[in-house]
This record gives sequence, C-alpha cells and structure tokens, in this order.
Amino acid sequence: MIDTKGLFIVLEGPDGSGKSTMANKIGEYYKLKGKEIEFTREPGGTNISEKIRELILDNNNVEMDYRTEALLYAAARAQLVSQKIIPWLENGKVVISERFVYSSLVYQGLGRGLNIEDIKKINDFAICNIVPDLVLLFDIDPEKALNRKLRFNNGDRLENENISFHRRVYDGYKQIANYYPEIKIINAERSIEELFEEIKNIINSIN
Ligand code: TMP
Repeated sequence: MIDTKGLFIVLEGPDGSGKSTMANKIGEYYKLKGKEIEFTREPGGTNISEKIRELILDNNNVEMDYRTEALLYAAARAQLVSQKIIPWLENGKVVISERFVYSSLVYQGLGRGLNIEDIKKINDFAICNIVPDLVLLFDIDPEKALNRKLRFNNGDRLENENISFHRRVYDGYKQIANYYPEIKIINAERSIEELFEEIKNIINSIN
C-alpha cells in the first residue's frame, strides 16, 4: 500500500442506487471544509478508460466474452489509478470515485460467475495495492434501483442484464462486505437528507 496524503472515498452499489447524487453532496461538504476535490467514475475517468467504457457498455457487443469484459474493466482501472488517482492522492486531494474494484468482484466474479479469486488477482495487478479509506455501499433492492434508472434511458449492456444477474450482484456486495473492513453498508432506501446525514457521520469518523 502506498503512503499518500489524500483521502480516497468510493461509492458502490446497484445501478440506480443514487451514488452520483451523494458523490456530489460529499464533494460539496469537503469543499466547505477547504479541501481540494476530484471526482471520477468507473469504468472511465481518463481518455483511454472512457474509450474502454464505450467498448464495454455498447449494447451491440453481444459477443463479448466474460473474461474479455473482466480484463477490460481491469485495464480501464489500471489507467485511471496510475494516471489520475495516485497523483491526486499524492497531492493531498479528496478523491471521490463512483465504483472501484469491488464492482468487478461482484459484477464479473459473482454476476458473470467467473472465479472471484481470479478477478481479485487481475485487479491486484491493475491497482498497485491502493486501498480506499472508505467504501460506502448503497444498500437498496436492485429491482427498485434499476427501475429508477431505466425510467430515464434504455440502459447499457450491463444494465440490460436480467434481474437474476442484478440479484447475484446485490447478494455479492453483501458477502464481500464481510471481508473488506473499509466497506460500510448504508441503507439507501431513505430520503436524500437522511442518507446524507448518515454519510456525514461516517466520513467525520474517518478523518
Ligand atoms: P455505471 O453505470 O455505474 O457508470 O457503471 C457501468 C456499468 O458497469 C454498471 O452496470 C456496473 C458495471 N461495472 C462492472 O460490471 N464491473 C466493474 O468493474 C465496474 C466498474 C462497473
């Protein structure tokens, strides 16, 4: 684990669980405290990673092998970590990322049924051992969350997977939370205000 001055906060959870809204609110909160903030999302966040994102999420790429998919997520992540996240943290910034390696463990490892240990190995290689200071896991029924999201668009290649895929992902998140002490589960089936109050308490307890 590299020693950095910054703070790395990750938001994880089912598609449509409200991560983007809360990422912005957390950013505003730290800005008021005088911190420099950087936002990012996965897959994406650099020119190369955004190109990989298009490839992965394109609904036309029906023939994509699950291993190819897993390696592409890891490749996009490697670029983001080396080009952006590590330099930001070394410069003392607060980095807020929607999704990180935990998404690959549950979407590819459990949703796709690939071996979770293999997914962990390729991602250990990709991320140079960085560990977030905090991972907020948004706990919301996956069907409810997905319906909320699909009201506004037709969905990408992953969102359009069947509900049993999304349930495996949801159950997977609950399972991996037992193994990663940085993960804090939060009940996301509440008002934005209630949710943010809890998040504020958690982030104040880590710094
Ligand atoms: P987003 O809609 O949250 O930006 O994420 C795009 C989709 O990619 C979403 O359905 C979750 C999925 N995903 C994975 O399957 N594995 C990963 O490692 C990441 C980061 C996202």
